[in-house]
Amino acid sequence: MKVTVFGIGYVGLVQAAVLSGVGHNVVCVDVNADRVEKLKQGIIPIYEPGLENLVKANVEAGRLQFTTDAALGVNHGQIQFIAVGTPPDEDGSADLKYVLEVARTVARNMAAPKIIINKSTVPVGTADKVKAAVAEVLAERGEAIEFDVVSNPEFLKEGAAVADCQRPDRIIIGTDSEKVEARMRELYAPFNRNHERIIVMDVRSAELTKYAANCMLATKISFMNEMANLAERLGADIEKVRQGIGSDPRIGYSFIYPGCGYGGSCFPKDVQALVRTAENNGYVPEILRSVEAVNHRQKTKLFAFLNDYFEGQLAGKKIALWGLSFKPNTDDMRDASSRVLMESLWQAGASVQAFDPEAMNETQRIYGSRDDLMLMGTKEAALRGADALVVCTEWNIFKAPDFELIKESLQCPVVIDGRNQYEPELVESYGLAYYGIGRGRSV
Ligand code: NAD
Ligand code: UGA
Repeated sequence: MKVTVFGIGYVGLVQAAVLSGVGHNVVCVDVNADRVEKLKQGIIPIYEPGLENLVKANVEAGRLQFTTDAALGVNHGQIQFIAVGTPPDEDGSADLKYVLEVARTVARNMAAPKIIINKSTVPVGTADKVKAAVAEVLAERGEAIEFDVVSNPEFLKEGAAVADCQRPDRIIIGTDSEKVEARMRELYAPFNRNHERIIVMDVRSAELTKYAANCMLATKISFMNEMANLAERLGADIEKVRQGIGSDPRIGYSFIYPGCGYGGSCFPKDVQALVRTAENNGYVPEILRSVEAVNHRQKTKLFAFLNDYFEGQLAGKKIALWGLSFKPNTDDMRDASSRVLMESLWQAGASVQAFDPEAMNETQRIYGSRDDLMLMGTKEAALRGADALVVCTEWNIFKAPDFELIKESLQCPVVIDGRNQYEPELVESYGLAYYGIGRGRSV
């Protein structure tokens, strides 16, 4: 099938690469000319395992192309994906300006019937707004071309985006048209082979499903972080508690890892957006507000541990930081907990000596050159001459460190483990003080 994807970010690019990988013919359109130009040269703008090879193979096979030419894109596919950003606006609601701009672009250029698919995460009622925007432009053009608007939210995780798209847990299709459903089933047939993954529902339920999924996952994390904070005060070990409750299949082991807060481009903004949707519809979202509040507090915890250890004397201290991205296997720094830590440390007059396997360029892009941020080539180099070590992201290469070397390199023997990667007794056996999340020491 001929498919067009507007927006070549995490979602659009991965979706386009995976769809072309099963034989669809995909044109990607983006307003970012630099991004399009780089992709044409085979330079992938994001780090995502497996993506580079998939993109290159499909470009070479002639099934995947990139352009800034919207008219070309609109004319290419009967299916038009909208996969642009929906960042928070001033009050935390999802800003739909990019989504509606794409809708109008499609309407301005279409000469034949189109199925417009909302892949971006959008509030309930957005499909109606997209429909209205397209209808308005068509009316201005004096054209009566048929079109449908479908909600088809994306559930991929960064760091595993390609694998998630190739083997989705479910494919949500929000439409009330049987004709559109049939086309969507044809599009996704290669991903629906061995058992039924497609769930068809009305548009509004599909739109809410996306927010409900992210907010449920964020709720699990904030709940566990709250339990961790309690465990610290009660002399319990949250890691034992996690295993104890995860073994109940009704609870499960996923997304109950306590830590220094959830980040990324989605949980923080989507929880916030659903809070605003609820409030705007006369409902007080008590649970969601708390999920957000607990997460904000959790992100200040690493700084609080350091402040506790150094008894408020952080000025002039140099902190080694392992992990900058909001989670492993990505270079994404959006809403990363490391940023809250670094910014608090700088404010307190401390400096940071950091290492991350993929997110160093992104960190440099965000913060530029500054005297209180040293980006080091290896995790060992980040330790040299530092006062303390903080682990913020659980990249594999941080999992079995040389504790002897840590002890020798640090001015003060303390490890702050923001992702509970180490056993406290093991770390302490090297003469290092240990702070974990929900494991003894409380702040
Ligand atoms: P992103 O910021 O990485 O990419 C968005 C792209 O859209 C950019 O390249 C931008 O230049 C382009 N764009 C903006 N306006 C455009 C226009 N008028 N025409 C063409 N291109 C345009 O965003 P993302 O992370 O891919 O997220 C996209 C949407 O998908 C968001 O709603 C997000 O919540 C949702 N989502 C993201 C993820 C994720 O893991 N990142 C997962 C599921 C859902
Ligand atoms: C999340 C969802 O998992 C995806 O299904 C969804 O499509 C996506 O948001 C989205 O809508 O964009 P992502 O943000 O890429 O994916 O990453 P997650 O693996 O969900 O992690 C999010 C944050 O939660 C990270 O900071 C991670 O460290 C934290 N986390 C995760 C925990 O603190 N504990 C856990 O047990 C799991």
